[in-house]
Amino acid sequence: MTETSALWHPFTQHALSGPPVFIDRAKGAYLFTKDGTRIIDGISSWWVNTHGHNHPHIVQAVQKQAAKLDQVIFAGFTHEPAEKLAAKLLEIMPPALRHVFLSDSGSTSVEVALKMAIGAHAHHGKPRTRIVALEHGYHGDTFGAMAVGAPSIFNQIYSDHLFAVDRLPFPESGKEDITIQAFHQLLAAHGQDIAALIVEPLLLGAGGMKIYSPRVLNQLKQLCEQYGVYFIADEVMTGFGRTGTLLACEQAHITPDILCLSKGLTGGFLPLGATLCTAEIYQAFYVKDRTRTFWHSSSYTGNPLACAAAVASLELWQQPATQNSIPALCALQEKQLQKIAAHPLAENARRCGTVTAFEVKQNEQGYLAAVGQELYAFFMQRDVLLRPLGSTLYVMPPYCITENDLNDVYFSIHDALDAVKAGQFQRAA
Ligand SMILES: Cc1ncc(COP(=O)(O)O)c(C=O)c1O
Repeated sequence: MTETSALWHPFTQHALSGPPVFIDRAKGAYLFTKDGTRIIDGISSWWVNTHGHNHPHIVQAVQKQAAKLDQVIFAGFTHEPAEKLAAKLLEIMPPALRHVFLSDSGSTSVEVALKMAIGAHAHHGKPRTRIVALEHGYHGDTFGAMAVGAPSIFNQIYSDHLFAVDRLPFPESGKEDITIQAFHQLLAAHGQDIAALIVEPLLLGAGGMKIYSPRVLNQLKQLCEQYGVYFIADEVMTGFGRTGTLLACEQAHITPDILCLSKGLTGGFLPLGATLCTAEIYQAFYVKDRTRTFWHSSSYTGNPLACAAAVASLELWQQPATQNSIPALCALQEKQLQKIAAHPLAENARRCGTVTAFEVKQNEQGYLAAVGQELYAFFMQRDVLLRPLGSTLYVMPPYCITENDLNDVYFSIHDALDAVKAGQFQRAA
């Protein structure tokens, strides 16, 4: 722990890292430290912030709600912000998704999705137990979410406690058929026992910002349909425009049976998860038998403030300014990526919608590659927040970032790559 604070921070090795940066306030694409330093938020504060920090429309909505209703038990009770949110989600999400279950985070939205899928099969009188997931996938840090996530440094020491999952090879470009074939074979052998396939559509986040094609996503969904397997789209990161469209699934012309949302749902303002499902899944639980209730809740389910933030964020989402900002950011990101791709140390430069990524060419790869920490420190010295996934560097800014600020982010990246090339980091170590 730090000497001055009792706080234990996430994904932070306190024995190695210095004291955390003390943030006092935020606005748009900027974070401001206590001493007034302005930091460009190049990763939308862990991929949550879409419209920029402290957007006045969301601030106002939350302030108004706070003065009226803070929190109420959500079993047997409801309230305006939650009802508005459900109605708004149904208005913009694929029409087949008819029901909205609220929770608190991306991980809990995934837990709910898994329980819905397994529960619906059981209630149909044909229990299925197996779950299929993608290699390199990440779905959160609660136990169910860890189980469906790829085995990694994040969950290694808990592996004995995680349920078994069938894993499909990641659909590398040009080798997509291997993935499809593997799923086909698995379904042919065990189709009747597979409850669901869970995927991050088009873009795998924490697994290394890996991109795959809409065609594969479409084929995976077709196979699920053939075998009565529920298709769970974990759009916790990809949702709300990150891949260029409201949902990544849109680009594959598919509608999931179950959809997980969080992060951008409130524009990054307050924690909230939502799991949407089809009428068929809801109906599996809808009988005059209390034992078939959907047994899942958390104390803050449907928190009015979080729902009000989400409603305000969805209102912003529907505004032309937001709709225009996404293709504009995609274009700016593409321009910057082309320049970065020319750097001798940038490998596999890629973009999915508003997100760019590449690998820093050097000996050590993977999440624990020292270069990740070194680059992080380098960027922080430049007042730019970028948090590499080991040797994978990515840029995922809020949609309001200006061209100038994005230029600054990429100037820093160029300088950082030059510093790696010159061996400066190794010398520092
Ligand atoms: C695809 C995906 N699913 C689930 C999660 C977990 O979300 P949370 O951190 O809000 O629990 C994340 C978090 O990064 C994610 O990227």
